[in-house]
Amino acid sequence: MTTVKQPIALATVLEFHFLNQPRNHQLNQSNMNITDQSIVGELVAQDYRTAWVFKNHGIDFCCNGNCSIAEACERKNVASSVLIEKLQHSVQQNENKSMDYNTWPLDLLADYIEKKHHRYVDAKIQEIKPFLNKVVKVHGSQHPELAEVEQLFNQSAGELAAHMKKEEFILFPFIRKMIKSKDSREPLAQPHFGTVQNPITMMHHEHDTEGERFRRIAALTGSYTPPADACNTYRVTFSLLKEFEEDLHLHIHLENNILFPKAIAMEKEMYAYPEN
Ligand SMILES: [Fe+2]
Ligand SMILES: [Fe+2]
Repeated sequence: MTTVKQPIALATVLEFHFLNQPRNHQLNQSNMNITDQSIVGELVAQDYRTAWVFKNHGIDFCCNGNCSIAEACERKNVASSVLIEKLQHSVQQNENKSMDYNTWPLDLLADYIEKKHHRYVDAKIQEIKPFLNKVVKVHGSQHPELAEVEQLFNQSAGELAAHMKKEEFILFPFIRKMIKSKDSREPLAQPHFGTVQNPITMMHHEHDTEGERFRRIAALTGSYTPPADACNTYRVTFSLLKEFEEDLHLHIHLENNILFPKAIAMEKEMYAYPEN
């Protein structure tokens, strides 16, 4: 008799993973040693609750996260001692509310990004486009900046769709292949793109472009603040755009600061095997 293997639902995998986490994990996170030499992206990778502190001070933790707290504070004219205190406070608050992506296996993280964030982007683009188009038609003459917001968002929609396909069909499958190869101790065939660093460099570049585009959208919309004469559609559209940008920040952070550096490290480790 042939046994048909049923696919394991992502929720089941997540549940299993969390059940197997060490119990004192949150305690360790509360004891994070944060100094002005700590790297912004690494801190957010260790505990995503710190992201909101950086965000509130306009510090980019996803695309430009590879700088120290001291450097980021100098750029934003913020006292590093004040920021560090807020960061420490943030990790002591809301225990259990943060997902510890940093301990996840890379194939689980790639699945999660694809099923949660990529699907979100696809769905929200369909939702936001008609709203934005309507708002430009009705309010564009009073608020000419809306036309540029629409143009930027439409560019983003097209380029993000292509970007996510590259991740889904090229980069993420190679990451899964590395894990399988590592588990089975089978040699890892060299991919057509040479090394994983190559598609990752391209993805970094495209993330920077999106980060820049959404900074411009945020500036044009006064950080998504609807004007006094805004109708409900206008308000809903700005809320959706704000939520879209926030989701994109978490999405890019998971890739830039966790998935990609770990994939590069794993590839180096794989090629260090004597049988490879
Ligand atoms: Fe992605
Ligand atoms: Fe990406």
